[in-house]
Amino acid sequence: MKELFISCLPGLEPVLGKELTELGYSFTEGFGGLYVPFIDMAQVYRLNLELRTASRVLLPLHSFRCRDKVDLYKGATKVEWERYFEKMPTFAIDPVVHHKNLINSLYCAQVVKDAICDRCNTTFGQRPSVDREAPEVSLHLFIFNEQATISFDTSGLPLHIRGYRLEAGKAPLRESLAAALLLLMGYTGEEYLLDPCCGSGTFLIEAALIASKTAPGLLRGRFGIFSHPEFSNKIWQQVRRDVESKRIGIAEGHIAGIEANPRVVEIAKTAAAKALLNREITIIEGDFRNVEAPFTPNFVIANPPYGVRLPGANDRLLYKELGDFLKRKTLKPARGAIFTGNLELAKCIGLHAKKRHVINNGGIDCRLLEYDLY
Ligand SMILES: C[S@@+](CC[C@H](N)C(=O)[O-])C[C@H]1O[C@@H](n2cnc3c(N)ncnc32)[C@H](O)[C@@H]1O
Repeated sequence: MKELFISCLPGLEPVLGKELTELGYSFTEGFGGLYVPFIDMAQVYRLNLELRTASRVLLPLHSFRCRDKVDLYKGATKVEWERYFEKMPTFAIDPVVHHKNLINSLYCAQVVKDAICDRCNTTFGQRPSVDREAPEVSLHLFIFNEQATISFDTSGLPLHIRGYRLEAGKAPLRESLAAALLLLMGYTGEEYLLDPCCGSGTFLIEAALIASKTAPGLLRGRFGIFSHPEFSNKIWQQVRRDVESKRIGIAEGHIAGIEANPRVVEIAKTAAAKALLNREITIIEGDFRNVEAPFTPNFVIANPPYGVRLPGANDRLLYKELGDFLKRKTLKPARGAIFTGNLELAKCIGLHAKKRHVINNGGIDCRLLEYDLY
C-alpha cells in the first residue's frame, strides 16, 4: 500500500503522532517523521491544512535500490514525469542523502534533475527549468541504506511557514516548534497564557490558533499540491470549508505577551494582525520585571535569550528573575515552561522541573522544562 511520509523536526514525532491519531489516521515511525497510509487526495489536503507540527507531507512517486549514480539516474527516469511536466512548470529537488558512496546531496539532486530533463526532452522536445526560490513543482529525494525514494512534496514551502510572519525578531522560534511545545504541555486554550519574553509572538499566535481550533494552513496561500496533475480545486475548497467549520471563537484577554524591544513589539503585532488574531492577543512593550501583565496568568511559557556564548551575570540574573516571575506572578495552581538551549542558565530559574523534553532546534540540543507552580 502507498504511504505518505510526513516529516517533522527530530524529537517532535510523538507530538505529530498524537495529532495524526486525533485526526483519525494511523501511522508508523520513520526516520525524521512518520508514515501514514495514503487514502486519497482529500486526505493530503487535510493533512497540509491541519497539521501544526509537521514540516512536509511527501507523496512517494518511486522507490528503488540505489548503489551508485547509475542506479540513481536509471531509477529517476522510471517516473512518468510527462504527467507532472506537461505544462513545463519550474521545479526544484530537495535532497536528503545518507549513503556511503553518494556523499554530495546536491550532486544527487543534479542526477535526478538530469533524468527528469532528459525524459521530458525525449517526450516534449523541451526541458523544464529549475527554480530554487519559488518552484511550481517541489520534489524530494531521500536516500538511506541504498534505498532511494523520490516524492512529490505536496507542501511546497515547509509547513512551518504559516504566512503570518512577514518579518522576524532575533532568533524567532519555528512556528511548528512553538505549536509542538504547546501541544507537548497539553495546552488546549482554557488557561490564561502569558509569554514574558514574547519576541515576534510565535507562542502567542500558535496558542491562539490552537485555542480557536484554527488549522494553521488556512492562513497560507499556496501548497505544492496545487501543481499535482490530480489536484482538484473543487475538492480542495470542500476540504478547506470543512476544516474552517471547526473554528471556534475565543474570549479576549486570555493570551498576552511582554517584549522589551519596541521594534520587535511592532513585528509581533503585525504578525498577530496578519493571522487575524490581534483582538485575541495582547502585546505589551516593556520589561517583564517591571510592567503589569493584563491578567494574572496560570500558564507561562517563554523562550528567553540564550545565545551560544558563555552566559554572563546579566543572563543569569534574567533567568533567576524569570524563575521569580513564575513563583510570584502566577495564579496558583499554575503551569510554567522555559524553552532554552543553555542548561547552565536553566539552572538559574531556581525551580525543580517536573518534566524535561529534549528537542534539537537548529543543531542545538534544547530543553523544554515544565514546572508545576503551587
Ligand atoms: C529568543 S527571543 C524570543 C523569540 C520568540 N519566542 C519568537 O518566536 O520570536 C527572546 C526575546 O526576549 C526579549 N527579552 C529579553 N529580556 C527581556 C525582558 N527582561 N523583558 C521582556 N522581554 C525581554 C528579547 O528582546 C527577545 O525578543
